[in-house]
Amino acid sequence: MVRTSRIDLAPEDHLRAIGTIFAVFDRQDSGNMSYGVEWDGERHFVKTAGRAEDPEQRWVLLRNAARIGATYRHEALPALREVIESPHGPVLIYDWADGELLGVPRDRRDDPASAFHRFRHLPPERIAAALDSVVEVHDLLGRAGEVAGDFYDGCLIYDFGTHRMSVVDLDHYRPGPYVNEMGRMFGSTRFMAPEEFVKGETIDQRTSVFTLGRAVLVLLGDGTTHREAFRGPAALWEVAIRACQPLPADRQPDLASFAADWREARSLEGGRMA
Ligand SMILES: Nc1ncnc2c1ncn2[C@@H]1O[C@H](COP(=O)(O)OP(=O)(O)OP(=O)(O)O)[C@@H](O)[C@H]1O
Ligand SMILES: [Mg+2]
Repeated sequence: MVRTSRIDLAPEDHLRAIGTIFAVFDRQDSGNMSYGVEWDGERHFVKTAGRAEDPEQRWVLLRNAARIGATYRHEALPALREVIESPHGPVLIYDWADGELLGVPRDRRDDPASAFHRFRHLPPERIAAALDSVVEVHDLLGRAGEVAGDFYDGCLIYDFGTHRMSVVDLDHYRPGPYVNEMGRMFGSTRFMAPEEFVKGETIDQRTSVFTLGRAVLVLLGDGTTHREAFRGPAALWEVAIRACQPLPADRQPDLASFAADWREARSLEGGRMA
Protein backbone atom coordinates (compact mmCIF):
# COMPACT_ATOMS: atom_id res chain seq x y z
CA MET A 1 0.00 0.00 0.00
CA VAL A 2 1.26 3.43 -0.93
CA ARG A 3 0.22 6.12 1.54
CA THR A 4 -0.91 9.51 0.28
CA SER A 5 -0.81 12.83 2.09
CA ARG A 6 -0.54 16.55 1.52
CA ILE A 7 1.85 19.23 2.77
CA ASP A 8 1.89 23.03 2.51
CA LEU A 9 5.67 23.33 2.90
CA ALA A 10 8.20 23.14 0.10
CA PRO A 11 9.39 19.49 -0.07
CA GLU A 12 12.91 20.23 1.14
CA ASP A 13 11.64 22.15 4.19
CA HIS A 14 9.33 19.25 5.00
CA LEU A 15 12.18 16.74 4.69
CA ARG A 16 14.40 18.81 6.99
CA ALA A 17 11.60 18.88 9.53
CA ILE A 18 11.01 15.12 9.56
CA GLY A 19 14.53 13.73 9.11
CA THR A 20 18.15 14.16 8.12
CA ILE A 21 19.11 14.74 4.51
CA PHE A 22 22.26 12.72 3.83
CA ALA A 23 22.38 12.94 0.02
CA VAL A 24 21.17 15.41 -2.60
CA PHE A 25 20.74 14.66 -6.31
CA ASP A 26 20.45 18.08 -7.92
CA ARG A 27 22.36 17.60 -11.15
CA GLN A 28 20.15 15.17 -13.01
CA ASP A 29 19.37 15.61 -16.71
CA SER A 30 15.70 15.55 -15.73
CA GLY A 31 16.06 18.71 -13.65
CA ASN A 32 14.45 16.86 -10.74
CA MET A 33 15.66 17.31 -7.16
CA SER A 34 15.96 14.11 -5.17
CA TYR A 35 17.23 13.33 -1.70
CA GLY A 36 18.50 10.60 0.54
CA VAL A 37 16.70 11.17 3.83
CA GLU A 38 16.81 9.24 7.08
CA TRP A 39 14.03 9.16 9.66
CA ASP A 40 12.98 6.60 12.27
CA GLY A 41 16.31 4.84 11.67
CA GLU A 42 15.45 4.11 8.02
CA ARG A 43 16.90 5.53 4.85
CA HIS A 44 14.64 6.72 2.03
CA PHE A 45 15.02 7.99 -1.51
CA VAL A 46 12.79 11.02 -2.04
CA LYS A 47 12.12 12.27 -5.56
CA THR A 48 10.71 15.70 -6.33
CA ALA A 49 10.41 17.95 -9.38
CA GLY A 50 12.37 20.68 -7.61
CA ARG A 51 11.34 24.28 -8.18
CA ALA A 52 10.99 24.09 -11.93
CA GLU A 53 9.70 27.16 -13.71
CA ASP A 54 7.81 24.93 -16.10
CA PRO A 55 7.13 21.88 -13.97
CA GLU A 56 4.14 20.43 -15.80
CA GLN A 57 6.01 17.73 -17.73
CA ARG A 58 8.06 16.67 -14.71
CA TRP A 59 4.95 16.41 -12.55
CA VAL A 60 3.37 14.19 -15.20
CA LEU A 61 6.42 11.90 -15.17
CA LEU A 62 6.45 11.75 -11.37
CA ARG A 63 2.75 10.88 -11.34
CA ASN A 64 3.52 8.14 -13.85
CA ALA A 65 6.29 6.89 -11.55
CA ALA A 66 3.74 6.91 -8.72
CA ARG A 67 1.38 4.81 -10.86
CA ILE A 68 4.13 2.28 -11.51
CA GLY A 69 5.26 2.25 -7.89
CA ALA A 70 1.68 1.62 -6.74
CA THR A 71 1.15 -1.19 -9.25
CA TYR A 72 4.28 -3.34 -9.14
CA ARG A 73 6.23 -4.89 -6.32
CA HIS A 74 9.47 -6.80 -6.87
CA GLU A 75 12.47 -7.32 -4.64
CA ALA A 76 14.67 -5.59 -7.22
CA LEU A 77 12.39 -2.52 -7.29
CA PRO A 78 12.85 -0.19 -4.29
CA ALA A 79 9.32 -0.01 -2.91
CA LEU A 80 7.31 3.19 -3.20
CA ARG A 81 5.96 3.94 0.30
CA GLU A 82 4.29 7.30 0.08
CA VAL A 83 3.23 10.02 -2.33
CA ILE A 84 2.91 13.50 -0.84
CA GLU A 85 1.21 16.30 -2.78
CA SER A 86 3.13 19.52 -2.20
CA PRO A 87 2.97 23.07 -3.58
CA HIS A 88 5.86 21.99 -5.83
CA GLY A 89 4.21 18.85 -7.14
CA PRO A 90 4.29 15.21 -6.09
CA VAL A 91 6.95 13.97 -3.68
CA LEU A 92 7.69 10.26 -4.02
CA ILE A 93 9.14 8.36 -1.07
CA TYR A 94 10.91 5.11 -1.91
CA ASP A 95 13.01 2.67 0.07
CA TRP A 96 16.68 3.52 -0.23
CA ALA A 97 18.65 1.08 -2.41
CA ASP A 98 22.13 0.36 -1.10
CA GLY A 99 24.91 0.13 -3.62
CA GLU A 100 26.47 2.04 -6.45
CA LEU A 101 24.99 3.37 -9.67
CA LEU A 102 26.43 1.40 -12.60
CA GLY A 103 25.94 4.27 -15.04
CA VAL A 104 28.92 6.61 -14.86
CA PRO A 105 30.01 9.43 -17.18
CA ARG A 106 31.57 8.14 -20.40
CA ASP A 107 35.11 9.19 -19.45
CA ARG A 108 34.94 7.10 -16.27
CA ARG A 109 33.82 3.82 -17.87
CA ASP A 110 37.41 2.60 -18.19
CA ASP A 111 38.41 3.92 -14.79
CA PRO A 112 39.14 0.84 -12.63
CA ALA A 113 37.63 2.69 -9.64
CA SER A 114 34.27 3.25 -11.33
CA ALA A 115 31.29 1.06 -10.50
CA PHE A 116 30.75 0.38 -14.20
CA HIS A 117 34.28 -0.97 -14.64
CA ARG A 118 34.22 -2.97 -11.42
CA PHE A 119 30.87 -4.52 -12.27
CA ARG A 120 31.98 -5.54 -15.77
CA HIS A 121 35.03 -7.22 -14.28
CA LEU A 122 33.11 -9.36 -11.80
CA PRO A 123 33.01 -13.09 -12.48
CA PRO A 124 30.54 -13.60 -15.38
CA GLU A 125 28.16 -15.65 -13.23
CA ARG A 126 27.80 -12.70 -10.82
CA ILE A 127 26.94 -10.41 -13.72
CA ALA A 128 24.47 -12.88 -15.19
CA ALA A 129 22.83 -13.40 -11.79
CA ALA A 130 22.41 -9.63 -11.41
CA LEU A 131 20.96 -9.50 -14.93
CA ASP A 132 18.49 -12.24 -13.88
CA SER A 133 16.87 -9.65 -11.56
CA VAL A 134 16.71 -7.07 -14.33
CA VAL A 135 15.06 -9.61 -16.63
CA GLU A 136 12.58 -10.72 -13.93
CA VAL A 137 11.51 -7.12 -13.27
CA HIS A 138 10.90 -6.63 -16.98
CA ASP A 139 9.01 -9.91 -17.24
CA LEU A 140 6.69 -8.65 -14.49
CA LEU A 141 6.21 -5.25 -16.13
CA GLY A 142 5.96 -6.74 -19.60
CA ARG A 143 3.21 -9.18 -18.65
CA ALA A 144 1.15 -6.17 -17.59
CA GLY A 145 1.81 -4.50 -20.93
CA GLU A 146 4.39 -1.88 -19.92
CA VAL A 147 6.82 -0.56 -22.50
CA ALA A 148 10.25 0.48 -21.23
CA GLY A 149 11.56 4.01 -21.68
CA ASP A 150 14.93 5.57 -20.90
CA PHE A 151 16.27 2.33 -19.41
CA TYR A 152 20.09 2.25 -19.25
CA ASP A 153 22.89 1.48 -16.82
CA GLY A 154 21.98 4.69 -14.97
CA CYS A 155 18.88 2.82 -13.77
CA LEU A 156 20.91 0.07 -12.11
CA ILE A 157 22.21 0.21 -8.56
CA TYR A 158 24.42 -2.74 -7.60
CA ASP A 159 25.52 -3.62 -4.10
CA PHE A 160 28.97 -5.17 -4.43
CA GLY A 161 28.74 -6.54 -0.88
CA THR A 162 25.37 -8.32 -1.02
CA HIS A 163 25.29 -8.72 -4.85
CA ARG A 164 21.83 -7.22 -4.96
CA MET A 165 20.72 -5.38 -8.08
CA SER A 166 18.08 -2.65 -7.88
CA VAL A 167 16.25 -1.11 -10.84
CA VAL A 168 15.28 2.54 -10.42
CA ASP A 169 13.79 5.41 -12.43
CA LEU A 170 10.95 3.83 -14.39
CA ASP A 171 9.41 7.29 -14.90
CA HIS A 172 9.38 6.96 -18.71
CA TYR A 173 7.77 3.50 -18.86
CA ARG A 174 4.34 3.56 -20.50
CA PRO A 175 1.33 1.25 -20.14
CA GLY A 176 1.32 0.20 -23.80
CA PRO A 177 2.73 0.80 -27.28
CA TYR A 178 2.82 4.32 -28.71
CA VAL A 179 4.17 6.29 -31.64
CA ASN A 180 7.51 8.05 -31.47
CA GLU A 181 6.54 11.73 -31.66
CA MET A 182 9.99 13.09 -30.81
CA GLY A 183 12.50 11.80 -33.30
CA ARG A 184 15.42 11.01 -31.00
CA MET A 185 13.77 9.99 -27.77
CA PHE A 186 15.04 10.17 -24.20
CA GLY A 187 17.70 7.62 -23.48
CA SER A 188 21.29 6.58 -23.71
CA THR A 189 22.31 5.83 -27.31
CA ARG A 190 24.11 2.63 -26.23
CA PHE A 191 20.75 1.13 -25.16
CA MET A 192 18.37 2.57 -27.73
CA ALA A 193 16.67 0.77 -30.61
CA PRO A 194 16.65 2.20 -34.16
CA GLU A 195 12.95 3.09 -33.91
CA GLU A 196 13.72 5.36 -30.95
CA PHE A 197 15.48 7.73 -33.34
CA VAL A 198 12.73 8.02 -35.97
CA LYS A 199 9.56 10.05 -35.67
CA GLY A 200 6.44 8.10 -36.57
CA GLU A 201 7.84 4.66 -35.64
CA THR A 202 6.04 2.37 -33.22
CA ILE A 203 7.57 1.97 -29.77
CA ASP A 204 6.47 -1.30 -28.20
CA GLN A 205 7.87 -4.19 -26.17
CA ARG A 206 10.11 -5.19 -29.06
CA THR A 207 11.81 -1.86 -28.41
CA SER A 208 12.13 -2.82 -24.74
CA VAL A 209 13.55 -6.21 -25.80
CA PHE A 210 16.25 -4.42 -27.82
CA THR A 211 17.16 -2.31 -24.78
CA LEU A 212 17.51 -5.38 -22.55
CA GLY A 213 19.61 -7.10 -25.22
CA ARG A 214 21.86 -4.07 -25.24
CA ALA A 215 22.13 -4.21 -21.44
CA VAL A 216 23.34 -7.81 -21.74
CA LEU A 217 25.90 -6.93 -24.43
CA VAL A 218 27.14 -3.88 -22.53
CA LEU A 219 27.50 -5.65 -19.19
CA LEU A 220 28.58 -9.18 -20.19
CA GLY A 221 30.36 -8.08 -23.38
CA ASP A 222 32.06 -4.88 -24.42
CA GLY A 223 28.97 -3.27 -25.91
CA THR A 224 29.63 -4.72 -29.35
CA THR A 225 27.98 -7.81 -30.84
CA HIS A 226 31.33 -9.65 -31.00
CA ARG A 227 31.18 -13.18 -29.66
CA GLU A 228 34.87 -13.02 -28.52
CA ALA A 229 34.14 -10.00 -26.35
CA PHE A 230 31.20 -11.72 -24.65
CA ARG A 231 32.08 -13.28 -21.29
CA GLY A 232 29.14 -15.68 -21.12
CA PRO A 233 28.13 -18.86 -22.94
CA ALA A 234 26.90 -18.91 -26.54
CA ALA A 235 23.28 -19.48 -25.50
CA LEU A 236 23.11 -16.16 -23.60
CA TRP A 237 24.91 -14.31 -26.35
CA GLU A 238 22.40 -15.64 -28.89
CA VAL A 239 19.46 -14.38 -26.79
CA ALA A 240 21.01 -10.91 -26.76
CA ILE A 241 21.84 -10.98 -30.46
CA ARG A 242 18.27 -11.83 -31.39
CA ALA A 243 17.02 -9.06 -29.09
CA CYS A 244 19.26 -6.52 -30.82
CA GLN A 245 18.14 -7.17 -34.39
CA PRO A 246 17.55 -3.88 -36.23
CA LEU A 247 14.08 -4.93 -37.40
CA PRO A 248 11.59 -5.31 -34.53
CA ALA A 249 9.99 -8.30 -36.30
CA ASP A 250 13.27 -10.23 -36.00
CA ARG A 251 13.47 -9.86 -32.19
CA GLN A 252 11.70 -11.77 -29.43
CA PRO A 253 8.11 -10.49 -29.79
CA ASP A 254 7.72 -9.22 -26.22
CA LEU A 255 9.37 -9.00 -22.82
CA ALA A 256 7.89 -12.28 -21.60
CA SER A 257 9.41 -14.13 -24.59
CA PHE A 258 12.76 -12.47 -24.01
CA ALA A 259 12.59 -13.49 -20.34
CA ALA A 260 11.65 -17.07 -21.32
CA ASP A 261 14.60 -17.27 -23.75
CA TRP A 262 16.93 -15.81 -21.14
CA ARG A 263 15.79 -18.28 -18.48
CA GLU A 264 16.12 -21.21 -20.83
CA ALA A 265 19.64 -20.17 -21.85
CA ARG A 266 20.55 -19.75 -18.18
CA SER A 267 19.30 -23.26 -17.38
CA LEU A 268 21.34 -24.93 -20.12
CA GLU A 269 24.62 -26.50 -19.21
CA GLY A 270 27.10 -23.66 -19.37
CA GLY A 271 24.31 -21.07 -18.91
CA ARG A 272 25.60 -20.84 -15.38
CA MET A 273 29.21 -19.96 -15.16
CA ALA A 274 31.81 -20.58 -12.53
N1 LIG B 1 15.77 4.01 -4.45
C1 LIG B 1 16.97 4.61 -4.54
N2 LIG B 1 17.88 4.43 -3.57
C2 LIG B 1 19.09 5.05 -3.62
N3 LIG B 1 19.48 5.85 -4.62
C3 LIG B 1 18.62 6.05 -5.64
C4 LIG B 1 17.33 5.44 -5.67
N4 LIG B 1 16.70 5.81 -6.81
C5 LIG B 1 17.57 6.62 -7.46
N5 LIG B 1 18.73 6.78 -6.76
C6 LIG B 1 19.88 7.62 -7.12
O1 LIG B 1 19.42 8.91 -7.43
C7 LIG B 1 19.77 9.28 -8.74
C8 LIG B 1 18.64 10.05 -9.36
O2 LIG B 1 17.50 9.22 -9.44
P1 LIG B 1 16.66 9.12 -10.77
O3 LIG B 1 17.48 8.61 -11.88
O4 LIG B 1 15.42 8.38 -10.43
O5 LIG B 1 16.32 10.66 -11.01
P2 LIG B 1 15.98 11.47 -12.34
O6 LIG B 1 15.53 12.78 -11.86
O7 LIG B 1 15.04 10.68 -13.18
O8 LIG B 1 17.39 11.61 -13.01
P3 LIG B 1 17.91 11.32 -14.50
O9 LIG B 1 17.76 12.60 -15.26
O10 LIG B 1 19.36 10.98 -14.28
O11 LIG B 1 17.10 10.19 -15.05
C9 LIG B 1 20.06 7.96 -9.44
O12 LIG B 1 20.99 8.16 -10.47
C10 LIG B 1 20.63 7.10 -8.33
O13 LIG B 1 21.99 7.38 -8.15
MG1 LIG C 1 15.02 9.85 -15.02
